[in-house]
Amino acid sequence: MNEEQRKHTSINILDERDKKAAKKETKDYSKYFEHVYQPPSLKEAKKRGKETIKYNDDFQIEEKYRNMGKGKTFLIKTYGCQMNAHDTEVMGGILSALGFEATDDINTADVILINTCAIRENAENKVFSEIGNLKHLKKERPETLIGVCGCMSQEESVVNKILKSYQNVDMIFGTHNIHRLPQILEEAYLAKAMVVEVWSKEGDVIENLPKVRAGNIKAWVNIMYGCDKFCTYCIVPFTRGKERSRRPEDIIDEVRDLARQGYQEITLLGQNVNSYGKDIDGLDYGLGDLLEDISKIDIPRVRFTTSHPWDFTDRMIDVIANGGNIVPHIHLPVQSGNNQVLKIMGRKYTRESYLALVNSIKEAIPNVALTTDIIVGYPNETAEQFEETLSLYDEVEFEHAYTYIYSQRDGTPAAKMKDNVPQDVKKERLQILNKKVGYYSEKAMSQYEGATVNVLCEGTSKKDDTVLSGYTEKNKLVNFKAPKSMIGKIVKVKIDEAKQYSLNGTFIEETNKAVVTH
Ligand code: SAH
Ligand code: SF4
Ligand code: F3S
Repeated sequence: MNEEQRKHTSINILDERDKKAAKKETKDYSKYFEHVYQPPSLKEAKKRGKETIKYNDDFQIEEKYRNMGKGKTFLIKTYGCQMNAHDTEVMGGILSALGFEATDDINTADVILINTCAIRENAENKVFSEIGNLKHLKKERPETLIGVCGCMSQEESVVNKILKSYQNVDMIFGTHNIHRLPQILEEAYLAKAMVVEVWSKEGDVIENLPKVRAGNIKAWVNIMYGCDKFCTYCIVPFTRGKERSRRPEDIIDEVRDLARQGYQEITLLGQNVNSYGKDIDGLDYGLGDLLEDISKIDIPRVRFTTSHPWDFTDRMIDVIANGGNIVPHIHLPVQSGNNQVLKIMGRKYTRESYLALVNSIKEAIPNVALTTDIIVGYPNETAEQFEETLSLYDEVEFEHAYTYIYSQRDGTPAAKMKDNVPQDVKKERLQILNKKVGYYSEKAMSQYEGATVNVLCEGTSKKDDTVLSGYTEKNKLVNFKAPKSMIGKIVKVKIDEAKQYSLNGTFIEETNKAVVTH
């Protein structure tokens, strides 16, 4: 740990007496801590220093920790995005290296980690109700360690609430220090009291972290961490820190290794993958270059997410248009179709520039599938402004969209805006938008009827285990009957029936080598 990180690190241990005292308070817990107390600070997290990121290749599990989990089990519940799910794979890797075994049974797990998401209020509410549900479990099995990690842990209001009302939690740690899980667990076991370790400043980029991936067909690969965009509604730049790109060679090595292991699909992950490489001094290498290098690796499908429309380059379009293993599916969150709303969201593009980008993409990649994210009910959004979101949707004809009602996040600039849009109007706008999403999804799906598509077969349907399912290159869910031996393979399926959000088809044959069709 370097000095800067140490400054922002807090390991706080509450004894029972302190806990009782802390319970009475809502805000300042510092007086109850014998140790240095520095809660997560959104203000600190907002700062962007000039210091260069160091790459740490030396991660290893210390000998003394290797048997910590012998005979014990763990369970991690994931509430967030793909990045959050990938963090779960890393924590699973670390716990396995400590000797713990994974379990699905929450009632017998010795360590339970709740990997949280802070993106919207309802995501947070789900987590609080889950932690509340664990109260009786902790009473019955006090030796169970319960940890809260992920993006919510980076918020001081959340940490305060847990300290006040959720004494059943043993550890709180943030997104920047999951590699310190062995030490955090040791503290929690030794102290038998709440341990809080949250860094408000991002750490270095740590390579060589062990991972236990959720499957052996598809894999996530982080290409960068953090976000510097600071869209005015968004908590992510606070919870994930500044943009830090992994070195190209480390990413390429990881992808090669996944290809060797037989993975069929990878998704390159970052909050804004288009910024890839910009933070590495002297590196003239961006996402376009990375995609091109990865397209030479023998892995059938490569996806990337998420692309901010602002710095989507022609070079990227060219590389995707060249095909190979880069799938013709681009998730391009637009958020709103109105310039004034886009401006106050801090998105840094206009309706016109977004549409121009969409046109360039469609010209270069005629078969492209575009999907998006949209927020309705931004503070003071007018009916006319919302109409512009609808008309933009009609112009682009997105094949799918994730749609949300704006949720106020403490500490973000939007949280300070007055809002005159009633909640029921927001709900109504969401319904109207979702109808449109359904309409265009159905339209896109109907074009598949009679066509033959390549499907990466992922498993059996929950209802009928002779029915297999998987996704096309453009991420359409396909159900079909085929032998189970096809799981993990890319197969040809003829589409018989298109539904609004999925396709039903007839299995034709296994493909020898999947070639992405443009
Ligand atoms: N980095 C990605 C977004 C990650 S969050 C990007 O910029 O494309 C995923 C989506 O959640 C966002 O695109 C946005 O539509 C939504 N979102 C983020 N903050 C939100 C908030 N405060 N309220 C409602 N939706 C939000
Ligand atoms: Fe949030 Fe904007 Fe960063 Fe996406 S680009 S994570 S919406 S701040
Ligand atoms: Fe949620 Fe954090 Fe991902 S806030 S969306 S888990 S980066």
